[in-house]
Amino acid sequence: MRAAAAEQGGGGRSLLLLAPPALLLLALLARHLLKQRRPPGFPPGPAGLPLIGSIHALNILQYLFFLSKIFSLDLGGISAIVLNGYDAVKECLVHQSEIFADRPSLPLFFGYGLLNSKYGRGWTEHRKLAVNSFRIFGYDQRSFEHKISEEAVFFLDAIDTYKGKPFDLKHLITNAVSNITNLIIFGERFTYEDTEFQHMIDIFSENVELAASASVFLYNAFPWIGILPFGKHQQLFKNAAEVYDFLHKLIERVSENRKPQSPRHFVDAYLDEMDCNENDPESTYSRENLIFSVGELIIAGTETTTNVLRWAVLFMALYPNIQVQKEIDLVIGPNKMPALEERCKMPYTEAVLHEVLRFCNIVPLGIFHATSKDTVVRGYSIPEGTTVITNLYSVHFDEKYWSNPEVFFPERFLDSSGQFIKKDAFVPFSLGRRHCLGEQLARMEMFLFFTSLLQRFHLRFPPGSVPDLKPRLGMTLQPQPYVVCAERR
Ligand code: HEM
Repeated sequence: MRAAAAEQGGGGRSLLLLAPPALLLLALLARHLLKQRRPPGFPPGPAGLPLIGSIHALNILQYLFFLSKIFSLDLGGISAIVLNGYDAVKECLVHQSEIFADRPSLPLFFGYGLLNSKYGRGWTEHRKLAVNSFRIFGYDQRSFEHKISEEAVFFLDAIDTYKGKPFDLKHLITNAVSNITNLIIFGERFTYEDTEFQHMIDIFSENVELAASASVFLYNAFPWIGILPFGKHQQLFKNAAEVYDFLHKLIERVSENRKPQSPRHFVDAYLDEMDCNENDPESTYSRENLIFSVGELIIAGTETTTNVLRWAVLFMALYPNIQVQKEIDLVIGPNKMPALEERCKMPYTEAVLHEVLRFCNIVPLGIFHATSKDTVVRGYSIPEGTTVITNLYSVHFDEKYWSNPEVFFPERFLDSSGQFIKKDAFVPFSLGRRHCLGEQLARMEMFLFFTSLLQRFHLRFPPGSVPDLKPRLGMTLQPQPYVVCAERR
């Protein structure tokens, strides 16, 4: 009897011990469910699941543009709106550019550096420094175009070693493209045999894919998940730590012989700014921000331009009747290296590259924005701090601006006399204050690499291999891995 009573007493005590954590859990749950309620006047949207909201639908978000021009979404307590179509995106990013220039405060995107930094002094200073460096160490230098052409020759020679046999171009394109950014940031290129640099880019790209996965987004909504020793977020942290270490050492090496106020590249220019601001306690320049900015510039420049070129190669091998090679032969000829001044004489090539950017939607949802103040859009109230998803995919498939948008048709960028025409609703680099700062560089690289490649090689798929046109989903849309034969013309 006594033993049973003692047992009962023990059970009661354990129940008492469990009560506070259970209450805490209930309180947290109630708080979370309250956070999931739509604020008054917020745009309507699909009902999400309890707790996780619509996180599970993240990977198909760009395809939900038929829902409405603006709809709301609950990402596990993070309230978000999705902007669909050119008019809605322009209305927010251009007409209310300042209010929509912030980035969300998500645990994954700590707010360091430039691309993920909040709208404020830190962002203004870092963006200005990056834009100036891209100009001074990049396209304002007369020799810069020549440096891209030199890289194109390394790239073509490396392709030649496959002697027309099928291979995956991905690594060579990645190396060539990242080397152009490397020249501006570090003042040097890396050889295609540099496995350490390649490994850094590989795990960095893996993180770009992981960052858009539902399970990593769960971490944004429930940061305590970070303590769990398993899951995709752990892989992401591990990769990020390795990339950070690599960049830290690289920055030390390339700044070893720096002469203050005589910058040779972005890293030097950044360290000069750090020196100039060392007595300003509010200064946003720091070693930490330098490493983050360098990482963001490398990955933003590499992942995007590489994927445009991979899609372009895929379409050229798929539709060999496309007239680009005819135009190259006519304007450039077989021996001379392509030059940027020839771009305006090659409307068809320009049209093809534009159609690849439109049709393939390399950054389908842009980079998430946030509102820095309460505002009103189309009669809906959008509170400060709302996450804003710009569905650029929907802009490129907006039937108000594009006829038969689901068809790959470069001629849509040509007028009746074959001249290139610009289109308002062409926004692969986004709009407004946070628009892509690498657009000019990306355009130079795409033109020079693409024309050099097609000048030297015919591209075709090996017999029997049919490429999959379904993109691989992530923060960027990339083609599924494919092999191609590049035969000397
Ligand atoms: C075809 C190639 C490229 C595409 C399609 C592309 C697209 C984009 C898009 C859609 C954004 C988001 C803008 C927004 O938040 O609204 C962006 C931002 C950005 N891009 Fe690019 N990009 C490309 C190449 C590059 C290159 C070559 C660089 C630099 C090396 C670069 C650096 C950046 C940076 C730093 C941002 C963040 C800007 C900010 O937050 O102020 N991009 N890009």
